[in-house]
Amino acid sequence: MTGKPLSIDDRSARRLSKEVKMTNLKGQDILHGNQFSKKDIDKMIKIASGFERDLRKKDSLALLKGKILATLFFEPSTRTRLSFETAMLRLGGGVISMASAESSSAAKGETVADTARTVSQYADVLVIRHPRIGSAKEAADAASIPVINAGDGAGQHPTQALLDIYTIRKELGSLKNLSVSMVGDLKNGRTVHALVELLSLYQTQHYFVSPANLRMPEEITSHLKQKGVWIEEIEDLEKAASESHLIYMTRIQKERFADLTEYEKVRGRYIIDGEFLRKLKKKTTILHPLPRVDEVSSDVDSYPGAAYFRQVRNGVFVRMALLAMVLGRR
Ligand code: CP
Repeated sequence: MTGKPLSIDDRSARRLSKEVKMTNLKGQDILHGNQFSKKDIDKMIKIASGFERDLRKKDSLALLKGKILATLFFEPSTRTRLSFETAMLRLGGGVISMASAESSSAAKGETVADTARTVSQYADVLVIRHPRIGSAKEAADAASIPVINAGDGAGQHPTQALLDIYTIRKELGSLKNLSVSMVGDLKNGRTVHALVELLSLYQTQHYFVSPANLRMPEEITSHLKQKGVWIEEIEDLEKAASESHLIYMTRIQKERFADLTEYEKVRGRYIIDGEFLRKLKKKTTILHPLPRVDEVSSDVDSYPGAAYFRQVRNGVFVRMALLAMVLGRR
């Protein structure tokens, strides 16, 4: 073979072009954890790994040059918003962003649907976070560009679930037959709602560890049971953790409580600290979508299995892959 060696951009473009043909995400909305097949996940992992390798050699690629991402966050965010924006910039595209719900026309009563129709005139892809379940679907129904759900209230957070899957695969080497403890506010935790849908494709077993009033929603547990997934709902974290390869901690979501005295009753119920880890018989991996409040103490951060900041970094590669898959090759 003769000619110039391929640049990283050329190689990424070729790899992407090949992978996109094998998936059906081009032009699609990303709204729910249950919309992905194992084939989609495998392709996403492959593309994200390629970007991770590319970014070790180069600061940015040019795959999405000229494309624009709009981020509309009607609820606070650090990781999801900044990692989507980073992902688009690393792919050579541009970003427009609503500074806050209060500074947009939502404050004047504009609907999510009209906001999505409007942003469709400016951008090529829209990422939305909103406090109401179903709002991302509402935006997707109105928009003429792909819409990505970055969290709809206590509903779903599918891109977090995909980056969690990527992280679990990297940390544990495989997704198959894992025993996973999901811990904390399973009622309001949209990350666990989406993640358990994806993990259940891989014959995982699940302990759902929560206070009685914050249990996993019944529609999710019954769907899992229908699919033959082994689940046990318990309140004893030590028992569940000692039988798990992975502990997925979540924050008790104060902002979802109508009555703060109810929050105070469950606040601090589950805490992982150095002493807790010393009691466990075997090494375990600890993930958390973050932000944390008090459920994982800072003395756990140096534990080799504490993977939550590596999980944060993986969010960039996975969101690069998703943007590239949804938008396709230029
Ligand atoms: N994990 C997550 O959704 O974090 P942010 O709320 O900071 O986006």
